[in-house]
Amino acid sequence: MAVSIKSEREIELMRQAGKILAKVHEELGKAVKPGISTWEIDRLGEELIRSYECVPNFLNYHGYPASVCVSVNEEVVHGIPSKERILKEGDIVSLDAGLIYRGYHSDAARTHFVGNVNAEVKKLVEETKNSFFEGIKMAKAGNHLYDISNAIDAYISKFGYGIVRDLVGHGIGTNLHEDPQIPNFRQSRRGLKLQPGMTLAIEPMINMGRADVEWLSDDWTVVAEDGLPSAHYENTILITDGEPEILTIL
Ligand code: MF3
Ligand code: CO
Repeated sequence: MAVSIKSEREIELMRQAGKILAKVHEELGKAVKPGISTWEIDRLGEELIRSYECVPNFLNYHGYPASVCVSVNEEVVHGIPSKERILKEGDIVSLDAGLIYRGYHSDAARTHFVGNVNAEVKKLVEETKNSFFEGIKMAKAGNHLYDISNAIDAYISKFGYGIVRDLVGHGIGTNLHEDPQIPNFRQSRRGLKLQPGMTLAIEPMINMGRADVEWLSDDWTVVAEDGLPSAHYENTILITDGEPEILTIL
């Protein structure tokens, strides 16, 4: 499938989809506290999304049973919300959410601290976010796609963290997942040339320990094989003639 170039009209809709998702994430972040269940976070997320007359795009996606992926500690991504899973002081929790606004998708993830978190884990979360910003410095028309991947890798590798290889970022638009795939680790090839109007979800998933992950028997939850914490940070962005535009921030 070719990489889609969005028209000015489509870009405006993507901006709206992104802004709404940024507001949803802001509210979800406020709800993260010791004692809340991952199920309650999902309920709040779906209500917020629908309150903006949007549709949660994760719900029923390949059978995924919720609107927000809620992944705690060693869970990397795609954790399934559960009434039994109660957040506690010292946890980290990755919330990944997306929505459809008038046919256009947005997708973003944040990792939050639950109360006080130890300094080593905090650093993992902060450097994961920083690696996204290193990556998008390269997200400019005329650069190549894997300039983004290589920048993320070069930044993260300094800390000795494991960059998850089994999951990658992606194009986004009238579908949640479009071409191209965007690895967060070093590539030898240069990848396609970036063009204004491309919309991309860039999403480093970084393990404190080794990069290896496995899938739990629920068929969704991806965990770090060594059981150490993992962080995720994602935004939907737009390639422009100049600086990239981050669509999923306020
Ligand atoms: N942001 C996630 C991704 O790009 C979307 C999860 S799809 C779901 O992989 F089905 F797990 F919800
Ligand atoms: Co994504």
